[in-house]
Amino acid sequence: MQSSEIKRDQWGSKLGFILAAAGSAVGLGNLWKFPFLAGQNGGGAFVLVYFIILFVVGFTLMMAEITVGRYAQLNAIGAYRKIRESWAWAGSLGVLAGFLILSFYSVIGGWIISYLVKAASGSFNTADVQLLGGMFNEFISSAGMPIFYHGVFMLITLGIVMGGIQNGIEKYSKIMMPALFIIMVLVMIRSVTLDGAMEGVKFFLTPDFSKITGGVILSALGQVFFSLSLGMGCMITYGSYLSKDENIPQSSMIIPLIDTGVALLAGLAILPAVFAFGFSPNAGPGLLFITLPAVFSKMPMGSLVGVAFFILALFAAVTSSISLLEVCVSYVVDEWNWTRKKATLIISGMIFALGIPCSLSQGPWSHITLIKGKNILDSVDFIATNILLPLGGIILSIFVGWVWGLYKEQRIHKTEDGKTVITWDLAYTDAIKEITNDGKINFALAHVWVFLIKWVAPIAISIVFLQGIFA
Ligand code: PHE
Repeated sequence: MQSSEIKRDQWGSKLGFILAAAGSAVGLGNLWKFPFLAGQNGGGAFVLVYFIILFVVGFTLMMAEITVGRYAQLNAIGAYRKIRESWAWAGSLGVLAGFLILSFYSVIGGWIISYLVKAASGSFNTADVQLLGGMFNEFISSAGMPIFYHGVFMLITLGIVMGGIQNGIEKYSKIMMPALFIIMVLVMIRSVTLDGAMEGVKFFLTPDFSKITGGVILSALGQVFFSLSLGMGCMITYGSYLSKDENIPQSSMIIPLIDTGVALLAGLAILPAVFAFGFSPNAGPGLLFITLPAVFSKMPMGSLVGVAFFILALFAAVTSSISLLEVCVSYVVDEWNWTRKKATLIISGMIFALGIPCSLSQGPWSHITLIKGKNILDSVDFIATNILLPLGGIILSIFVGWVWGLYKEQRIHKTEDGKTVITWDLAYTDAIKEITNDGKINFALAHVWVFLIKWVAPIAISIVFLQGIFA
């Protein structure tokens, strides 16, 4: 039984929905992952491929998820089931993805908390990246502290999800999200004006086409899903809280634009500094933690900026982690009839447990490799981000494009002289009705979107997916 069908809260306002959905989208994916992936995958080449996939697949699927959610007024699994009984399984895949992602997301969230503590105690007043790199490696490769902070991060996430999410978070988001944006702009300005930073700007913005490989394209695809919180039903759930008279096309544009804006800012805050300080762009997951403290040390009131940055980054990470946990919890609550409290506690415990080997893989267990020579954390990330999320995207686009039916409806009109005219009308299918609020909104790109969701998205994702995995 679907308990969520009984009573359905709605966002206090349109801004509430945008903030919550953008809160889910903007997180460690933007601040931590995007810059280091760009650094590892050829800089501008990666950014270019990211943008192409964002425009072709990202916007399209964002709109599809929000539409399915608002139509069904249910979480992902309930929504698939309500539209087509036999498709309920499609939602469960997303639950697995959320579960896996949160297990390592929380480890990185823990790193953020630890760096917040370090920043607050003035531990890194240096621009010496070798020193900062040593500090970082010493921290993540130890067994105890990273696991402790991973636990703290899970506790914060759990506490919020157990209490029911919207209210508090929505209120704080109004201040924290713009604040994050402003501080990122300040850090970015400092970073690009460092001596030698232009090399990094060039690296980040000019594509070197020879760097584009199957692996780079798959990473960019996975990153679009990861960063926009797509492919696991998260936006279906959030869309289900959107009120029936809000504008879906507009929301589906704004959220990816905010998300991409923050990712670009993070890239421009981190990569130019990498070059200015003579560091290596392909240093991997440590990039943010090693270079930003160096940038802060070169700013007026740098230690304050550092503390503010890590507080805001933590907030952004938590607004994402609650959406990951929420997908798992609402599944168990709705499908297995567990109480919310029991579901949250047990699932969080399991995610914490799975995070432990992820954390240890940065140090004591770094020799263990699972997939393609990757350590445990990177392997879990690869399975969830580069396999499960794109798979979720393929399933969603087939579902919306072919099963739910964007088939044009046959309408028979009689003209005045008695002739029968048949038209095939897109405007009367359920998905289009939902998107246009029953024809009240003029969605000029409807045909483009239909073409993208039916053909381009499933085919493009499948090609990238297959050649990236088997290449
Ligand atoms: N989009 C979030 C980020 O960029 C992570 C996330 C992925 C959240 C999938 C929900 C679902 O940090």
